[in-house]
Amino acid sequence: MIKGFRDDFLWGGATAANQIEGAWNVGGKGLSVSDVLTYKPDVSVMDYKKNNSYTMEDIKIAMESDDTRYYAKRRGSDHYNRYKEDIALLGEMGFKVYRLSIAWSRIYPNGDDLEPNEEGLQFYDDLFDECAKYGIEPLVTMSHYEPPINLTVKYGGWSDRRVIGFFSTFVDTITKRYKNKVKYWLTFNEVDSMIRHPFTTGGLVESEYDEKEFEQVVYQSMHHQFVASALATKITHENIPESQVGCMLTKLMFYPFTSKPEDVLAAQQDQRNTLAYSDTQVRGEYPPYLLALFERKGIEIKKEVGDDEIMKAYPVDFVSFSYYSSSCSAKNSEELAKTAGNTSFGIKNPHLESNAWGWQTDPIGLRISLVDLYDRYQKPLFIVENGLGYEDVLEEDGTVNDDYRIDYLREHIQAMKDAVVEDGVDLMGYTSWGCIDLISASTNQMSKRYGFIYVDSDDFGEGTFDRYRKKSFYWYKDVIASNGEKL
Ligand code: BG6
Repeated sequence: MIKGFRDDFLWGGATAANQIEGAWNVGGKGLSVSDVLTYKPDVSVMDYKKNNSYTMEDIKIAMESDDTRYYAKRRGSDHYNRYKEDIALLGEMGFKVYRLSIAWSRIYPNGDDLEPNEEGLQFYDDLFDECAKYGIEPLVTMSHYEPPINLTVKYGGWSDRRVIGFFSTFVDTITKRYKNKVKYWLTFNEVDSMIRHPFTTGGLVESEYDEKEFEQVVYQSMHHQFVASALATKITHENIPESQVGCMLTKLMFYPFTSKPEDVLAAQQDQRNTLAYSDTQVRGEYPPYLLALFERKGIEIKKEVGDDEIMKAYPVDFVSFSYYSSSCSAKNSEELAKTAGNTSFGIKNPHLESNAWGWQTDPIGLRISLVDLYDRYQKPLFIVENGLGYEDVLEEDGTVNDDYRIDYLREHIQAMKDAVVEDGVDLMGYTSWGCIDLISASTNQMSKRYGFIYVDSDDFGEGTFDRYRKKSFYWYKDVIASNGEKL
């Protein structure tokens, strides 16, 4: 009988280079799409559209500017300069795994360079060596909202097929270089997010296209990423035979708003719209319902000879996903109250509480998601993002009393334990999001914090950037030490 988590369960936390490293123009790094995103203090944090609309004009202005107050991801949490201290803190918590991304523009500053940037490569060598000192296994995302901005300006981002080649070169470089240091890899963070935020995911600038044309461009770019992901799996397995490569999905969770069959159908349709992308990456082909959607919308994916074979031959080894909250679906939603999320919006569930950004907390939804995904794929699962954004307060004595975060995480870890013990789900690990405070992906705020470790910096980068252990730091340390028994 299964009693709890596997003995080799990978406990840890997750970050992304563009949100934590800073040092945007240091060590030969080029600009990425994330370096041109601005913190918009006058826009509501609930207004996703306004917070995330960028024109080519905005991008050109950003490329000329050296501002780091508003271009918040350029400073991040100064991890580039403090990685030793940060990894030591993760080691102190007993981390078994640390999920991070490699900034493509640190290795190939323009994306299409012929030679990699040695200083960038060395930075990650040092970082992985530091992890090894504490017995921490790196889990590396190859692309986490970090295409070099040059690819947008010169090629129109992932809409251009040549980008597959540039990305494959990047993947070959990093998997050869770190073959003795990194075993676990993810290809594209939240690969489905091309639909919701095509600029950060694919370097696509919506205002350059008319509406109908843009939808075609989005799906074409996604096709390029699917082929690139399959090639990345192939390259990684060739360079590192013992490696494991996963896909990464935004696991959105939709409940029918009522038991009316129409609402149940609406929820099923919404759910399938998110699962379509893991279906493609796990099975190595577009599912029939996605092909039907292309047909309905008049979308024609331009494929080259061999694309289908590549996708089929190199599916992923495991399925990873992010999970934060849930919402409802209904046939007629106009009159119903809506929730917010960072990029996805649904109908408010009257039975759930929301955080300050409108995300509804739902641990049982995590258990349902684990069961759904495992029943569907029967591949090992890995939760690589989960957590609570909160405006933490640093007390004068240097403490942060984040009991609300402990409650959130405890309930979610209990739910995943139930999925493992009672539902027989094969779960490899858990990396909560933003284990060290970092810049929010959707609002570019520093004050939306997820970490166990507080970083002393405000929304404009004012502060010492010193690190403080929050109350959740000590709690999570016990969770790891007891392999999830002491919650
Ligand atoms: C995920 C992203 O969607 O959500 C992360 O992969 C992001 O990059 C996280 O930070 C939380 O969202 P936000 O907008 O609160 O930072």
